[in-house]
Amino acid sequence: MKTKIAQSALKRLMKHAQQAAKQSYSPYSKFRVGAALLLTNGKTVMGTNVENASYGLTICAERAALVRAVAQFGPKIQVAAVAVANLNNSSSPPCGACRQMLAEFALPDAPVIFPAADGIRTMAFSELLPAGFERQPE
Ligand code: THU
Repeated sequence: MKTKIAQSALKRLMKHAQQAAKQSYSPYSKFRVGAALLLTNGKTVMGTNVENASYGLTICAERAALVRAVAQFGPKIQVAAVAVANLNNSSSPPCGACRQMLAEFALPDAPVIFPAADGIRTMAFSELLPAGFERQPE
């Protein structure tokens, strides 16, 4: 499905991501991240990073939002747009693990908006994860 997300909708989604970052549980890195997903059903779902004393168990904001979206709206969700924000004035594109998780549900042309070194950047999901590992034929 081809989607065209209005610039105003992306701006709004970014505001939701910034809002979610305020809830971050990040006592170890102090890097406060928020993510907001716009689903094709019109709903917005937010997530934040939740860290753990056993560092590797940390979950990123994007994956937190994604699992929440499935829990709330079921396994058929499709992600039409993604916004990522942080409260540290730093660049934060989705990490590799989050890209791979998003690949399961994101439309290839879903815009992903995130803070980059040169300002807020928007890329299509398929640009962020070209040649990602996909579901195998049964
Ligand atoms: N983090 C995210 O929430 N999303 C990303 O895509 C990259 C990293 C979090 C994980 C950890 O809590 C903190 O940022 C520092 O790596």
